Amino acid sequence: MIDRADERSRPPLPGLRVRRLGYGDLPQVIAIERRAFPAPWSLAMFVLELSKQSGICLAAELEGSLVGYLICSRYAHVWHVMNVAVDPAYQRRGIASALLESLFAQADRPGAEYTLEVRPSNTPAIRLYERYGFRVEGLRKAYYHDNREDALVMWRRIPSEPEAQMTARGRRGSDGEEQR
Ligand SMILES: CC(C)(COP(=O)(O)OP(=O)(O)OC[C@H]1O[C@@H](n2cnc3c(N)ncnc32)[C@H](O)[C@@H]1OP(=O)(O)O)[C@@H](O)C(=O)NCCC(=O)NCCS
Repeated sequence: MIDRADERSRPPLPGLRVRRLGYGDLPQVIAIERRAFPAPWSLAMFVLELSKQSGICLAAELEGSLVGYLICSRYAHVWHVMNVAVDPAYQRRGIASALLESLFAQADRPGAEYTLEVRPSNTPAIRLYERYGFRVEGLRKAYYHDNREDALVMWRRIPSEPEAQMTARGRRGSDGEEQR
């Protein structure tokens, strides 16, 4: 379960706009995907994800150019972050953070859960996800087809209303206030 105080918002990058990703963005998405990943997704994989009504797919645009994107599917109350990438020329400027913050602003609800897979060698991504409250909870052996690397499975959980109330009561108790 996350402690929301762990999430540190960065000041937004001037001129950065996060909006819904559309089919017309896919040529730029594919260009970034090929530069960002050793085993890039195909065009068909992006088309499939965009066709799902329940998902959230976001574009980060800087001065009219696509500089990053995020693909997230939903299965019941579980959000699966399938893909996040930022153009290598624009990395470390808060763009992935802005994409994740936009996703959470749209999808966070009491009891919501987010999961994703990440390569253990992908330190930048692991640091990013940890910063937003994701924690490693499992391992999928030989998950990646290109090099048979394992995947870390990370989860971020929003407390349900009863859990949030219990945490608040516990905090009041530890502050020396009323606790029965
Ligand atoms: C991972 C990735 C999406 C991060 O995008 P980004 O826009 O550069 O990330 P941000 O600028 O929002 O970084 C936010 C935080 O993540 C962590 N982080 C990001 N890049 C990092 C790096 N190279 N090394 C260490 N920490 C890093 C830091 O905590 C950073 O905060 P800080 O800059 O204040 O220290 C980007 O590196 C990328 O596209 N990588 C290739 C594709 C990929 O691996 N996607 C994830 C698949 S699971």
